[in-house]
Amino acid sequence: MSDLSIKYMGLSLKNPIIVGSSGLTNSIENLKEIEKAGAGAVVIKSIFEEQILIESDKFLSSSDKKIEPMKRGFDDIMNKRSYDYIEALDYIDNFAKENTLDKYLQFIEKAKESISIPIIASINCVSSYNWHYFAKRIQKAGADAIELNIYLLPSNPIQEGIENEKVYFEIAKEVQKYVSIPVSLKISYYFSGLAQKVIELSKTGIKGLVLFNRPYNPDIDIKTIKISSSNIYSTQSEYSHTLRWVAILAGRTDCDIIASTGIHDYTSVIKQILAGATAVQMASVFYKKGFGVISETLKGIEDWMKEHKFENVNDFRGKLSQVKIEHPAAYERVQFMKMYSNIE
Ligand SMILES: Cc1cc2nc3c(=O)[nH]c(=O)nc-3n(C[C@H](O)[C@H](O)[C@H](O)COP(=O)(O)O)c2cc1C
Repeated sequence: MSDLSIKYMGLSLKNPIIVGSSGLTNSIENLKEIEKAGAGAVVIKSIFEEQILIESDKFLSSSDKKIEPMKRGFDDIMNKRSYDYIEALDYIDNFAKENTLDKYLQFIEKAKESISIPIIASINCVSSYNWHYFAKRIQKAGADAIELNIYLLPSNPIQEGIENEKVYFEIAKEVQKYVSIPVSLKISYYFSGLAQKVIELSKTGIKGLVLFNRPYNPDIDIKTIKISSSNIYSTQSEYSHTLRWVAILAGRTDCDIIASTGIHDYTSVIKQILAGATAVQMASVFYKKGFGVISETLKGIEDWMKEHKFENVNDFRGKLSQVKIEHPAAYERVQFMKMYSNIE
């Protein structure tokens, strides 16, 4: 029988299929189904900075008379009219943080009681602001690891790339000061020198890098002539962008690399591992086809391993990474030279 077990960030996983963070990892029933279907680990829904702001808002719209003066203070600050109520804002902010975090911690505790595969908590952060405070509590609640989802769009035309990129390093360093469980970063590809920065990030003590998060992209509806949202779920063809970067970076980083985006079946899992990924994360496909995909994917990998006489995942991991292949330029070709000349 093929051995699919792996080590991811020092954790023992029975296979390399990790269910990525999404709305589907937000309920205990789903986590039980995910475990039953055979996943190696699961990343639970992220706790968002924005979520905390919403919670603040809910708090502020409460009818409690006692908070009325604070609400006014908050509004003033938000409207940048007055800074007299900084303390009130701090109070509200901390209240919201505690409330939101409490729910999240309870969920982690319940998840730990309900399933036995590793549970990776996820924090969606855009600044190093107070995340150490959350991270510590998340570790205490029993999470096996923490994934920091950092997606910073370098959209400010007067901000240097380095300023934007600095935030990734600050968050990584800050959070690790307060936890002993493994920390990974789930990042975007908007770096001025992607390969160099990813390698640098891998040396900050983090144990894993998830390449890449898939951003929510805007679209335009030409019927209503309004801004709309584009495809929320990935398609299978999207895996190749990550494949290139996994292959280029594998064997060059000081931490594990995990592939994410467009991985919908066993073929793309195998490709990512051949390119050098330690494991993969899958999300969209479960919205489209349900968690049954996990067992089908595992069966596909096992059959392929048998066919190619690979006994365990290490036997083929990174076999086609850039550092191991004869023609490394294959992963760097970006123009369709040959194809253009052949297509009529
Ligand atoms: C509906 C939905 C909700 C998501 N929520 C989160 C989230 O809370 N945190 C996060 O890090 N990623 C979130 N993601 C991103 C996925 O974890 C994943 O990185 C992305 O969808 C690419 O993988 P895929 O092609 O397998 O979907 C979400 C994705 C979807 C489709």
